[in-house]
Amino acid sequence: MTTALVTGAAGMLGTDVVRVLRARGHDVLALDRAGLDVTDADAVARAVRDVAVVVNCAAWTAVDDAETSEAAAFTLNAVAPQLLARAAHAAKAAIVQVSTDYVFDGDATEPYDEEAPLVPRSAYGRTKAAGEWAVRAATPRHWVVRTAWLYGATGSCFPRTIARLAAQRGEVAVVDDQRGQPTWTMDVAGQVAALIEANAPHGTYHATSSGIASWFDLAAAVVESSASGARVLPTTSDAFPRPAPRPAWSVLGHRRWHDAGLAPIGDWRARWDIAAAEVLGEPVA
Ligand SMILES: NC(=O)c1ccc[n+]([C@@H]2O[C@H](COP(=O)([O-])OP(=O)(O)OC[C@H]3O[C@@H](n4cnc5c(N)ncnc54)[C@H](OP(=O)(O)O)[C@@H]3O)[C@@H](O)[C@H]2O)c1
Repeated sequence: MTTALVTGAAGMLGTDVVRVLRARGHDVLALDRAGLDVTDADAVARAVRDVAVVVNCAAWTAVDDAETSEAAAFTLNAVAPQLLARAAHAAKAAIVQVSTDYVFDGDATEPYDEEAPLVPRSAYGRTKAAGEWAVRAATPRHWVVRTAWLYGATGSCFPRTIARLAAQRGEVAVVDDQRGQPTWTMDVAGQVAALIEANAPHGTYHATSSGIASWFDLAAAVVESSASGARVLPTTSDAFPRPAPRPAWSVLGHRRWHDAGLAPIGDWRARWDIAAAEVLGEPVA
C-alpha cells in the first residue's frame, strides 16, 4: 500500500484524510503544523523524501483575514505547495493539492468545468489559484482537488455553528442568495483515496457533493437533524457584509470523475443525512 504524507493533518480535512487513508490500509505519515511547517523548505524536503504521495491539507483558510494579510496567505497557499510539489517531484512522488471554489468568479449560472478560467475575486482565492499553478508547474504527477462548502467533525464549521445558534436563539437568519454544494470532509477524503488507488489521470478534479443548495437550505437540513425545532429565516448577503466577497455561485462540475471512471460524491442532502450524527454528535463548539 502507498506511503502517504498528509500535511495539515490536524485540520478539519486533514484529520479525515488521515482517517480514511489508514482505514483503507495505507501507510500514513500524518504531520500537523508542529510536525511539519510546510513553509520550511529544508523540513519539507526531508519529510517528502521517502513517500509515494503527498496530500497537502495545510493552508491559510481565514478568508477574510487574507484580505489584509495577502503576503502571508500567499506564503502558505502558494509558496508552500510549490515547495511540496518540487520535493515530491524530486522523490518521484505524486501530490494532491487541495484547492477551492474561490478560484472562480462566482458569476456563472451553470457548474464550473474543471478547466474553466481562474478568476478569483478575493485575496484568498488569488493565493489558492497561485498554489494550483505552482503545483502544476512543479510536477506533472499532480492531482489538484478543488472542494467547497466543507463541513466535518473536527473544529468549527457552518452546520455546528448553526446548530449552536439555533439551540441558543430558537431562530436563525441565513443567506439564501449563494448557491453551492455542501460537502463532507469524509467524502473528500474518500475521493482523494480513490484518485491515489486508481492512479487516476493527473489533473484537476472537483471533490464536491452533487446537487445544489443555498446556505439557507443547508441550515434547514441542519436544524431538521438537530431536532431543535428552531426557525430558519431566509436573508440576503447584504445583511452580512464581509471583507472578502463570497461567490454567489459555487457549483462545480464533475466531468473529470466520469472521464476517469470514478464516481463523484453523491447528492448533498443524502450525504448530510449520513454525516449529521457524526458532525453534530460532539458538543458543538
Ligand atoms: N473549509 C472549507 O469550507 C474549504 C472550502 C474549500 C477548500 N478548502 C480547502 O481545504 C483545505 C483544508 O482546509 P480545512 O477546512 O481543513 O482548514 P483547516 O481546518 O484550517 O486546516 C488547515 C490546517 O493547516 C495548518 N497549517 C497552518 N499553517 C501551517 C504551516 N505553516 N505548516 C503546516 N500546517 C499549517 C493549520 O494548523 P493550525 O490550526 O495550527 O494553524 C490547520 O490544521 C485547504 O486547502 C482549504 O483551502 C476548504
